[in-house]
Amino acid sequence: MAERAGIVLAAGIGKRMKSAKPKVMHAVAERPILGHVIAALREAGISRIVVVRSPGADSVREYAANLGVESVVQEQQLGTGDAARAAQPALTGFDGTLLINNGDMPLVTGRTLSGALDAAKETGLAIVAFRPADATGYGRVISDASGHLDRIVEDQDADESERAITLCNAGSVVADAQSFFRWAAKLEKNNVQNEYYLTDVPALAKSEGVGCAIYEADPIEVMGMNTRAELARAEVEMQKRLRARALDAGAGMVASETVFLSFDSVIEADAQIGPYVVFGPGATVRSGAEIRAFSHLEGCTVERGAIVGPYARLRPGAVIEEDVHIGNFVEVKNSRVEKGAKANHLTYLGDTRVGAGANIGAGTITCNYDGFDKHRTEIGARAFIGSNTALVAPVTVEDGAYVGAGSVITERVSKDALALTRAGQAEKAGWAEKFRTRKRAEKAAKGK
Ligand code: UD1
Ligand code: MG
Repeated sequence: MAERAGIVLAAGIGKRMKSAKPKVMHAVAERPILGHVIAALREAGISRIVVVRSPGADSVREYAANLGVESVVQEQQLGTGDAARAAQPALTGFDGTLLINNGDMPLVTGRTLSGALDAAKETGLAIVAFRPADATGYGRVISDASGHLDRIVEDQDADESERAITLCNAGSVVADAQSFFRWAAKLEKNNVQNEYYLTDVPALAKSEGVGCAIYEADPIEVMGMNTRAELARAEVEMQKRLRARALDAGAGMVASETVFLSFDSVIEADAQIGPYVVFGPGATVRSGAEIRAFSHLEGCTVERGAIVGPYARLRPGAVIEEDVHIGNFVEVKNSRVEKGAKANHLTYLGDTRVGAGANIGAGTITCNYDGFDKHRTEIGARAFIGSNTALVAPVTVEDGAYVGAGSVITERVSKDALALTRAGQAEKAGWAEKFRTRKRAEKAAKGK
C-alpha cells in the first residue's frame, strides 16, 4: 500500500456559526468536529495527518496536539486551496497518496474515505460527491461523458443551469501528493469569493490530461457544517448512529430515541439504560448494570449489578462497584462506592470512599470544599450514616460505625462506635394546646 497522508482544513472562520469558537471545535456527541474527522482519517489507515488552522486558533492547536496530530497555520483565510497549500512544508518529501478533507464533516466514516482512496487508484485523483436534499451552498459536480469529473462550480459562481445540478462536492479530495501541490500552486482566485478554491484542482488536472474519479457517498455522512442548524442536525444523525451501535452491541434501551450518547460511551451487552439518560464523555456501564430514567453520567464506571437512578448524577471519577445502589437525586464525584453500598436518596458524595455494604442515609452531604481545596472523606465498610448528616472533610468514619441523623461530623468516628452531634431534645408538656388557645382568643378579639 502506498504511503498515505491527510490534510484537514480547519482554518476557516466559520462566520455562519456566529461563534467565537473555531467551527471545528464545536462538539458533536461531546467530541469536537475536528476529532471526528481525525478519527475517520485514522480509520482509513492515514496516520500522518496535518491540520491547517488559523493563526489565533490555539484551541485547535492544543486539541490536535493532544491527539498526536501536527497543525500548521494558514496566515490568511484565502480559501480552501490556499489552506491545503499551507500544509505543504509539513509534508516536504512526502511522495504517497494525499487525502485533503474539509474539517467541518463530523459524520464522515473511515469506510467512506477508504472508498475515496480506492477510487483514486485509477487516475491518481478522486473527489467525494453526494446528493443532499438541498444543494444550496454546496459546490456542484459537473461530470463529463465518461463519468469522470469535468469541473466543480461553487454555488456562488454557478449559473442557473449549474445550480440545478443535484450532485454536490463533499469536500474530500484524494490525489497523488506531488501532483497535487503542483496543481495547487497554479490556483487562481478569479471567482466571486476572491478565494483560492481547492475545488479548482480537478479542472487543472484535467488540463494536464489527468482524469478525476467521482466517489459518491452517503449524503448524511458528508454533510457540511456551516450553521448552528446544521450542527444540530449532525447531532441528531450522530445520536441515531451511536444508539444503533449500542443496541447492536447488546445494550438494552426501552426508549433508545431519548437516550443521549457520547462518542465514547461504553455500554456493555445486557446493561439496561432507561429513558432520558444522558451520557457525557468517558462513561462505562458494565454488563448487568441498570441506569434508570433521567440520570446523567460522565467520566464514570458502573459495575455489574449496580442500579443507578432514576435522577442520579455520576460525575468524573465516580466508580460504582458491583451491586451498589445510587438512587434519586444522588450526585457522586471522584468517589469510589464499594460493593453493595447504598446511597438511595438526596446525597452528595465528593472525593469520598464509601466502603462495601455501607448505608448512606437520605440527605447526607460530604462537605469536601473549603473554598480553596478539596478534602477527602473515608467511610468504612458497613458504616451507617444517618439521614441529613454533614461529613466535614477531611474526615473518616471507620468500619461499622453509626452516625446519628442530623449530625455534623468533623472528627474521626471510631470503628463500631455511634457518633452524634445533634442537640438534645427538650419537651414542654401541654405547650401546644396552651399556645393554640391563646392564639384563637387573640384572633377572636381582633375580629370583633
Ligand atoms: C466547501 C467547498 C464546496 C463543498 C463544501 C462541502 C470549496 C471552495 N468549496 O464549501 O465545494 O460543497 O465545502 O461542505 O472548497 N477553510 C480553511 N481555510 C480557508 C477557508 C476554509 O481552512 O481559507 C476550511 C474550513 O475551516 C472548513 C473547510 O475548509 O473546514 C471548508 O470551508 P468552508 O468555508 O466550510 O467551505 P464551504 O463554503 O462549505
Ligand atoms: Mg463548509
